[in-house]
Amino acid sequence: VRENGVIVAIDGPSGAGKSSLTKLLAQRLGYIHIDTGAMFRAVALMSKRAGIATDDDARLAELCRGLDVTFVRDGASCRVLANGEDVSTEIRTEEIGLLTSAISARKPVREALLTMQRAMGAKGGVILEGRDIGTVVFPDAEVKFFLSASAEERGRRRYLELAARGDSATLEETIAKVIQRDKQDEGREHAPLKQADDALPIDSTSLSIEEVLSVMENAVRERLAQG
Ligand code: DC
Repeated sequence: VRENGVIVAIDGPSGAGKSSLTKLLAQRLGYIHIDTGAMFRAVALMSKRAGIATDDDARLAELCRGLDVTFVRDGASCRVLANGEDVSTEIRTEEIGLLTSAISARKPVREALLTMQRAMGAKGGVILEGRDIGTVVFPDAEVKFFLSASAEERGRRRYLELAARGDSATLEETIAKVIQRDKQDEGREHAPLKQADDALPIDSTSLSIEEVLSVMENAVRERLAQG
């Protein structure tokens, strides 16, 4: 156990419920929540604005060197700042999601964010959610979860979110996009989405948020009790 507690790693594909669960678990434990996907999304947004091609590693490296991503609490929610600008809403579009999937496969981007993420989490008392936290960023995290759900269920959840926002995407299209992103995230050369050998797998397809949350909270408390 570190200065401020343990490091909890939550990895898994998009739509498995990582964000909601990480937020709730952080509240219960009084831990800090680090959404690493938001950091990659911020890089993607800034690269789009600067007109950088997704395979231009030199310019991507330069962009990352000059980029500072921070999280600030705003009541119950958490805002994402890129060089001080609040980009929380702008990074959540489908377009930025797909661009992020491509940008996050680039080596200089992964290296830059790896350094930032390790600095943010080193003291413990944190939950990091992402794709490679338990395998690459903190292979020595005290507690690791791999959260998954079927592509159909993840697509269905995403579809409901989009529909609530007034987006006209169909269920079929949304499921197809989920499958496309899984392929990109699993098939890439650097830090592909993969379950750590020592992670506790949780399939949330037919579980409620509350059920998954209590499995997670119990696992963390058990680990904390061991000292
Ligand atoms: O979790 P999310 O949907 O915000 O992630 C957006 C993209 O970023 C997704 O395609 C995978 C990528 N990502 C990553 O490569 N590594 C992480 N630690 C987190 C996200």
